[in-house]
Amino acid sequence: MLLGWASCYAFSKGKRQHRGIPLSSSLLWLHRQEGCHIFSRPPRTLLSPALEVGHSLLHVGIIPLTTRSIGAIIILTMGKIRVAVAGVGNCASALVQGIEYYKNHPDEKVGILFENIGGYQVTDVEIVAAFDVDERKVGQDLSEAIFAPPNNTEKLCDVPTMGVKVQMGPVFDGVPEHLKSFVKVAKEKPVDVGLVLKETGTDVLVNLIPTGSKEATRYYAQQAIEIAKVAFINGIPELVVSDDKFEELAIKNRVPMIGDDFKSQLGATILNRALLKLCLQRGVKIDRVYQLNYAGNTDFVNLVFRGASKHLTKETALRSLLPYETDIATSFAYVANQKDRKIARIEIEGRKWGGAPLRISVELSVNDSADAAGVMIDMIRCAKLALDRGVGGRLVSVCAYYAKHPPIQYDDEEAFKMLQEFIEGRRER
Ligand SMILES: NC(=O)c1ccc[n+]([C@@H]2O[C@H](COP(=O)([O-])OP(=O)(O)OC[C@H]3O[C@@H](n4cnc5c(N)ncnc54)[C@H](O)[C@@H]3O)[C@@H](O)[C@H]2O)c1
Repeated sequence: MLLGWASCYAFSKGKRQHRGIPLSSSLLWLHRQEGCHIFSRPPRTLLSPALEVGHSLLHVGIIPLTTRSIGAIIILTMGKIRVAVAGVGNCASALVQGIEYYKNHPDEKVGILFENIGGYQVTDVEIVAAFDVDERKVGQDLSEAIFAPPNNTEKLCDVPTMGVKVQMGPVFDGVPEHLKSFVKVAKEKPVDVGLVLKETGTDVLVNLIPTGSKEATRYYAQQAIEIAKVAFINGIPELVVSDDKFEELAIKNRVPMIGDDFKSQLGATILNRALLKLCLQRGVKIDRVYQLNYAGNTDFVNLVFRGASKHLTKETALRSLLPYETDIATSFAYVANQKDRKIARIEIEGRKWGGAPLRISVELSVNDSADAAGVMIDMIRCAKLALDRGVGGRLVSVCAYYAKHPPIQYDDEEAFKMLQEFIEGRRER
């Protein structure tokens, strides 16, 4: 994808005069470049840091305007986004397969929220490093590890050898007792994660390890933010992005953070929020809400035993919309033969005109990990955009739209507007 910027400096008698954009010959030339996107004026935030971080300068052209003046054209290429994943489970599998799927179906638009985020396409995301602790994954090429048990997400496509070996991460609290019959811890010595991130030229690390891995999550966050100085996305319900200490660290190191916990593409949380908002708009008093989620993947085994932080992020995402106290409960169950298919049962009880009772009962059935990958792909591109712009710390708008537990909760429509402003460069974070 090319991102073009056309401008003109006219030189007359050795003196430079900025002539602005109406430079028909350069615009025409730019139009002829395939996939070129023209800004009438380059957002300063986009241009300068992009050059600083070494985006390739594809073309600098000098064109004659009149016999006494010349114009310049600069075209920037938006490079690939180099991503590392911590945890090669079902979510990582859905991400890797999805990128391959869209590569093979370049005209396919289904399932993509934003085709283009600041010049970055879905297929600009490239996985360059992966960490796990399971002996069936460590040492394998990522294209094979994503299909190793206990992963059981639906297969979207074959993935050719990627040349990315899964490396042994430090276990910390990533494999609790109740997961030991699912995850077989490898004997290898853990690698130095910060060093690997540096050596692979990673831009963004995405945390995809089991919920409740408090220590391991903090380790990966610190390696990304402080050691390797790369962007950090926390896909799991450990409160890292919401933690002021990490915010300070991220600002100091000028690296962006997004989290905490994915608000899936069209999962139970976003659907439940939409229904609650509808009730509020239509004058319904909401008395009770419950959400039962069940699936047959490892994530759900873990959520049954160690789901406290997920209850917190889910319930906060619902509670934050309501102007009064309401009885809200969320629950998780593991049903082995459902594999990665998640069923969410949402119940809302309330009262309307004259206290007349109302009950909404909804069942949602989704491929759980695809739901996470569908938002991860946007979060990754937003993180890279912030890196390009030299913006560090929490990306408030991106967090509000894509995370269950953002540092600041906003209504989803407002969050969407803020996100668009961020992408267009009209909002810093
Ligand atoms: N829709 C979704 O699926 C969704 C939505 C929101 C959040 N999440 C969260 O994303 C995370 C990943 O989900 P998943 O379904 O891929 O889980 P998973 O159990 O399939 O994968 C987790 C992987 O992490 C590995 N691991 C354990 N400890 C590790 C460590 N210390 N270092 C590196 N790897 C380690 C495991 O071996 C496993 O491969 C979970 O915490 C889940 O709650 C998922």
